[in-house]
Amino acid sequence: MQSLYDDPELYDLVAPADAAMERFYVEAAGGPGRRVLELACGSGRFTVPLAASGALVIGGDLSQPMLARARAAAAERGVSAEFVTLDMRDFVLGRRFDAIVIAANSDPISQVMRTDWYWSTAEHNDFRHTPLELRQIFPQELPLLLEAGGLRLLERFGDFDRGPLTAASHRQVCVCAAMV
Ligand SMILES: C[S@@+](CC[C@H](N)C(=O)[O-])C[C@H]1O[C@@H](n2cnc3c(N)ncnc32)[C@H](O)[C@@H]1O
Repeated sequence: MQSLYDDPELYDLVAPADAAMERFYVEAAGGPGRRVLELACGSGRFTVPLAASGALVIGGDLSQPMLARARAAAAERGVSAEFVTLDMRDFVLGRRFDAIVIAANSDPISQVMRTDWYWSTAEHNDFRHTPLELRQIFPQELPLLLEAGGLRLLERFGDFDRGPLTAASHRQVCVCAAMV
């Protein structure tokens, strides 16, 4: 069965450009000239705006179709970004970065939500079925996972406009620093 990530054009319909999220990641990356690694970069939804902001970006992802789409998106926008195939659970690039971004639902291991997307047009009903699995991280669990990964939690928000994280929030957004 095809994954949604085998069909990046459909993925882009599910996850379109989002100005608040772009702004958040561009600000978090720290500006022109910063060396930024974006893990699970997908089709480049944030890699391309990061590169356009002047950051020196490498986007890494497991999915070849998503990376191909990201390369095309960067070329189309006329920005320079490097894309590499990697498994973010275990990789070595041998380079140092000023900022590392993992954007928007990019860690499927366990505690997994499984959804089935059925795609239709006016002419064709259910022309494609793409299962999607996303790991859910509980709010209480996230700070512990970050700490176990050697990161110190600096700020935590409930949305990309930096609103507070509350029981009604739909997102968890974290800004961290490496522990020294
Ligand atoms: C929900 S998409 C998010 C893509 C992008 N960050 C965005 O917000 O549009 C999840 C991405 O994670 C990638 N991915 C899943 N497991 C991965 C892993 N272990 N290593 C690297 N990439 C992975 C998938 O191929 C997919 O492109």
